Amino acid sequence: MYKKVVDFIQQIYNTKEFLPLHEPRFIGNEKKYLNDCIDSTFVSSVGKYVDKFEEEFAKKVGSKYAIATVNGTSALHISLILANVTKDDEVITQPLTFIATCNAISYIGAKSVFVDVDLDTMGLSPKSLKEFLRANCEIIDNRCINKTTNKTIKACVPMHTFGHSCRIDEIKKICDQYNIALVEDAAESLGSYYNDKHTGTFGRLGAFSFNGNKIITSGGGGVIVTDDEALAKKAKHLTTTAKIPHKWEYVHDEVGFNYRMPNLNAALLVAQLEQLDTFINSKRDLALKYKEFFKSDEEIDFIAEPSHSKSNYWLQAILIKDIAKRDEFLDYTNKNGIMTRPIWKLMNELEMFKDCQCASLENSKYLEERVVNITSSVIV
Ligand SMILES: Cc1ncc(COP(=O)(O)O)c(C=O)c1O
Repeated sequence: MYKKVVDFIQQIYNTKEFLPLHEPRFIGNEKKYLNDCIDSTFVSSVGKYVDKFEEEFAKKVGSKYAIATVNGTSALHISLILANVTKDDEVITQPLTFIATCNAISYIGAKSVFVDVDLDTMGLSPKSLKEFLRANCEIIDNRCINKTTNKTIKACVPMHTFGHSCRIDEIKKICDQYNIALVEDAAESLGSYYNDKHTGTFGRLGAFSFNGNKIITSGGGGVIVTDDEALAKKAKHLTTTAKIPHKWEYVHDEVGFNYRMPNLNAALLVAQLEQLDTFINSKRDLALKYKEFFKSDEEIDFIAEPSHSKSNYWLQAILIKDIAKRDEFLDYTNKNGIMTRPIWKLMNELEMFKDCQCASLENSKYLEERVVNITSSVIV
């Protein structure tokens, strides 16, 4: 069976050469805009491409404001600060995520609390969230207090895994009920919608990534989105070393961060954003091909978009039912020129997050042991 998978992928990509998991495509105006940016000499954090990108991005996802950053992790870090998360607070998230989600929480000195994911979305489960809050928390003076630790749960960070939207509307309702700020980790879900609304725009703030492996890339980059003008202003301020705008004076009114995206990266990103729809169409086509191929396979399920959503299918994923076979599959495909990769290890099992409070994490564990990413590059 594994040989059939390798043959199929090589046939789709029309090559017997090594196939990485996800290659970026630079087939639009990238070089033109980069040259223009270099010629302008405005290669750093001020320039027309940063402004243009922020404007175009906000339009694309339907948010009022977008603030470009150096990467997705910094976008999350600032979003959490703006959600008033401080040292000794707690932030609820999912254990099945890339490390950056939890790192951003830890940068503030706050603690991650893990609730389970849904099996179909692989993203934070509203049911698990509700049960956890009901059993462990109470609202005192408008704060959601965790009775086990006596700490305040300030924010909740669901993540839209591989571009599949989680049940974000239900999560939002629960967060509102418990006075918890919703900050979406939408790093992987540019171009993905939940009931026709773009992921990352449900919460108070949303963070996206443009790392080299993402659906569009600026080499490294990120963006914060919000509909709140005050938060947007503050985001820009904090990401630009908290400098008060002035023609020549260096006055900074608090400890800020050098998190602003350089114009050079933004030039690349403006060109990439122009091609987003083409990339998504290609990925959705690829998903249909995989779905059809794996339909008759009794050992492997292709992971399709959840019913309530439209996915960008950033990383294509399969579920290998028999856990003993997962490593065989990884071994065979990687030895035969097809890069495949298991989903992340659960965050609560990593040394630095071992002491974090956890709900029952059955679904996360089930997926951790079985989900594998397969070749996902846009076909040109
Ligand atoms: C779920 C998730 N969160 C956060 C990030 C962080 O983004 P970056 O690598 O741009 O810092 C990534 C991607 O790398 C991610 O996949």
